[in-house]
Amino acid sequence: MEQLVIQGGYPLKGEVAISGSKNAALPILIASLLCEDEVRLTKVPRLRDITTTLKLLALLGADIEQDGQHVLVRPGHLLPEAPYDLVRTMRASVLCLGPLLSRLGQAKVALPGGCAIGARPVDLHIKALEKMGARFELEGGDITGHCNRLHGARIHFDFPTVGGTENLLMAATLASGETVIENAAQEPEIVDLAHFLMACGAIIEGHGTSVIRIQGVDRLKGCSYAIMSDRIEAGTYMAAAGITGGELSLTACPFAHLGAVVRVLRDMGMDIEEVGDRVVARAQDGLHCVDIETMPHPGFPTDMQAQVMSLMCLARGSGVIRETIFENRFMHVLELVRLGAAITLSGKQALVQGVKRLTGAPVMASDLRASASLVLAGLAAKGTTIVRRIYHLDRGYEAMDAKLTRVGAHIRREQQR
Ligand code: UD1
Repeated sequence: MEQLVIQGGYPLKGEVAISGSKNAALPILIASLLCEDEVRLTKVPRLRDITTTLKLLALLGADIEQDGQHVLVRPGHLLPEAPYDLVRTMRASVLCLGPLLSRLGQAKVALPGGCAIGARPVDLHIKALEKMGARFELEGGDITGHCNRLHGARIHFDFPTVGGTENLLMAATLASGETVIENAAQEPEIVDLAHFLMACGAIIEGHGTSVIRIQGVDRLKGCSYAIMSDRIEAGTYMAAAGITGGELSLTACPFAHLGAVVRVLRDMGMDIEEVGDRVVARAQDGLHCVDIETMPHPGFPTDMQAQVMSLMCLARGSGVIRETIFENRFMHVLELVRLGAAITLSGKQALVQGVKRLTGAPVMASDLRASASLVLAGLAAKGTTIVRRIYHLDRGYEAMDAKLTRVGAHIRREQQR
């Protein structure tokens, strides 16, 4: 296992190129299964979750070629089974259900099970696909689904689930008739998925709003498509500029999708501006704490909660962070406390009292965004911080240590002893 060793206290300065979005690339790769011809994707980030998804597509019968950020998928003769060994390492595998049912009339996907940030059930995905005519059984830890051709339906999600909306959107493209998804998730990655599907011939309206309408078609062709930039990666580098008192210029930054994050960072005292084709983020005079609450898009994203918490640890005053999307998404708190942060947890909320300084220590990454928050804290802490179990970080941040080194961070990757 590898770890990151960080010498804190160096303000970051320079340019960071934002990679393609993990959370857009995953569903789009899986949506390639719906197509009859080949799909050419560019700006696919080189991440562990992407490697896992490509393995999954290959096991399902697709022919894959990967050359850096370019991926070619030829769906070929598909098989309906996604095995547990892969699914357990990546919950997004459950997104195969919709496309496989739509294409083959059957699907067998291992139930993902719990993960570090809470129970994360898939009941909403299942209920919605049942409304379209699928029948499910749970046996031996696998969800097995069958259907004749899926039919259009009116589906109202009790909660705007991102994965559920994506699963339904994919399934509905090849179903008969019209599907209406109400209380749909509005995340930019769903809009990117819809744009990809439309480039393949799907008929979709309302993506990016809470009501999405899909008219089913008989077949989808292939297409060439560039994945959108990663808004969470961009937000994380903005926070990195803030916590080190530096200045980063972000290229390929999806600024329009960062509304709530930029508002919070500006409220804390950061200066964030679009300058030509880049976004410049800087913190000159010290920051102060604010209150935040995570919400579905366009609210403040849960995927930025941990990173902003690190930033608040060294800001003036105190602030309350309320996590409303996931249970148990405060695993970074006790690790930040090891670095000297003053945080009190009570149920769904954390009270952060800013401190004058953090001091380096060995800490353990527990999930993807928690890992990023520990790296940020390490960049600002006095002395040496060792972040262990960084395989979590590698699931979702492309070459983070290399990108940080280029802008002046003292960070190195080594084998965990
Ligand atoms: C996606 C993102 C993840 C992000 C999250 C919320 C990907 C690969 N992952 O995860 O980074 O943090 O959106 O923005 O895009 N729920 C149910 N039943 C269901 C489905 C969800 O109860 O059938 C609950 C979950 O347990 C969770 C909440 O709804 O508490 C949000 O889940 P969801 O929006 O589905 O997130 P994911 O798609 O898993």
